[in-house]
Amino acid sequence: MSILITGGSGYIGSHTVVELLSNNEDIIIVDNFSNSNKVSLDRIKQITNKEFKFYNVDCTDEKELEKVFKENNIESIIHFAAYKAVGESVYEPLKYYINNINSTLNILNLMKKYDVKNFVFSSSATVYGNPHKFPITEDFPLSTTNPYGATKLMIEDILKDIAKVDKSFNVAILRYFNPVGAHISGLIGEDPNGIPNNLMPYISQVAVGNLEKLNVFGGDYDTHDGTGVRDYIHVVDLAIGHVKALEKLRTNCGLVIYNLGTGNGYSVLDMVKAFEDASAKKVNYQIVARREGDVPMCYADSTKANKELGWKAKFGLKEMCEDTWRWQSKNPNGYR
Ligand SMILES: NC(=O)c1ccc[n+]([C@@H]2O[C@H](COP(=O)([O-])OP(=O)(O)OC[C@H]3O[C@@H](n4cnc5c(N)ncnc54)[C@H](O)[C@@H]3O)[C@@H](O)[C@H]2O)c1
Repeated sequence: MSILITGGSGYIGSHTVVELLSNNEDIIIVDNFSNSNKVSLDRIKQITNKEFKFYNVDCTDEKELEKVFKENNIESIIHFAAYKAVGESVYEPLKYYINNINSTLNILNLMKKYDVKNFVFSSSATVYGNPHKFPITEDFPLSTTNPYGATKLMIEDILKDIAKVDKSFNVAILRYFNPVGAHISGLIGEDPNGIPNNLMPYISQVAVGNLEKLNVFGGDYDTHDGTGVRDYIHVVDLAIGHVKALEKLRTNCGLVIYNLGTGNGYSVLDMVKAFEDASAKKVNYQIVARREGDVPMCYADSTKANKELGWKAKFGLKEMCEDTWRWQSKNPNGYR
């Protein structure tokens, strides 16, 4: 029996595949490289010394995707494949609705047809909208401020509807906070196309000399230094969260929802300072106007994942920055 990983060549997917292979799981990856590079697959093999099956398939193409279900005995699915740029989703909403929703519907439909019962879904802290207090627990009200977030919320609703009527359907909705860092080998890491949307790759590209300076969006938020506060989580901790979620699904748990964060809120300037310490490089920055749609603060209460999955983030800010820097300095142009 195999685990199908959609989007397994991407940032979080590749790190999760490494953890699953290290746990001797049998893996199949589906990716269309719309936001990743096939070199990441070679690097996974280099790290783990293990083989896996790969299909270059677009998940919105149900016919092609069905071949993967036909040719394999799939036990569980971890569904990472999606577009994820919040800003772009505002300008190209249809692109996001088509890719993120259609991919998921195709997979769910094929799961039904081929009687696959376990599904892990990549959701996001963005489904909490602008939270009214902190830390955020899983029972907070849900809302979104952009089309990307709307796709995550819609899919959560679809999964809840299915779980209501199919008691044999096991689904883990994992709400990630802000994934950063890289595998300790420095062989895989975050490799955004073009100018990064997220803070950490932006900082690391300034440090390595690819970008001139960091624009810090907003210096007048009601936070300890005026810049936005987020819950950064090491991508390897996040990957291990998926291994634990899979174990949970195998107990026939039905639908479960977990926040995956550290519970620590760090500001943009905290991150700049920590990165400068880890890399011994200066990170030039300037404070500019707030960015529309950004919330001042966001951090998780992950007690539920700790209690029910036995999962807790173990890497701190120092490792997040050191591992990012190792990846970035060894691969100044990412996988290219
Ligand atoms: N990175 C974050 O900050 C973050 C935060 C919360 C949630 N998420 C979610 O986690 C998941 C993984 O994120 P990531 O950071 O690894 O992103 P990523 O872009 O690095 O990985 C996504 C992968 O999916 C592939 N893909 C996209 N559409 C596809 C399709 N139609 N068919 C086949 N492959 C397709 C891309 O080529 C890429 O390899 C996404 O669903 C994302 O929305 C990410």
